[in-house]
Amino acid sequence: MRRVRIAAYGLLAVVAALWGGYWFTNGGAKRLGLDGDALGVSAGVTVGGPFKLVDSAGKPVSDTDFRGKWMLVYFGYSFCPDVCPTELQVIASALDGLGPDAAKIIPIFITIDPERDTPEIIGGYVKLFDDRLIGLTGSVADIAAVARAYRVYYAKAERKDTTQYLMDHSSFIYLMGPDGKLRGLYRPGSTAQELTATLRTRLAGS
Ligand code: NI
Repeated sequence: MRRVRIAAYGLLAVVAALWGGYWFTNGGAKRLGLDGDALGVSAGVTVGGPFKLVDSAGKPVSDTDFRGKWMLVYFGYSFCPDVCPTELQVIASALDGLGPDAAKIIPIFITIDPERDTPEIIGGYVKLFDDRLIGLTGSVADIAAVARAYRVYYAKAERKDTTQYLMDHSSFIYLMGPDGKLRGLYRPGSTAQELTATLRTRLAGS
């Protein structure tokens, strides 16, 4: 357990370093946005990548299905008591703020709790927040692979008092460009207004 936590902090440190590096490089001006090209060169770390998952109908879905569209990707789980609902609400509000341009962006929620989040459950869950949200799940191995690609940390947090468990997980929102490359990284607690503003800038520049 301890080793898992150390590894987890390592991953968080990588994400934090990436984010901090961008803050620094961009002088804070684009504080919530990253330039995909610069990311690959200066950080030498790729965030994001191919995935093979299933949607709420159990239909296979891969990253290439979304090429040509922007993806706003968030990882969490439907049993999450606090953070996930907040962040999904932020995503929904941010898209509302964009108006018709929101159609260029596909919001995607990927579970890191595939044992409980079946296609049906994940589908029903995301619809509570926004009809545009696409919920994805997959096998334990496929979820582990996509989480690794996105540098997402997650782990079961067992509780003594009940058979239910919570999941610890990192909570960044990823903006992927029409080419599938990382174009923005939003830290936990970003507001819908901040997302809308940087999304608008990104869409205008594409
Ligand atoms: Ni959560």
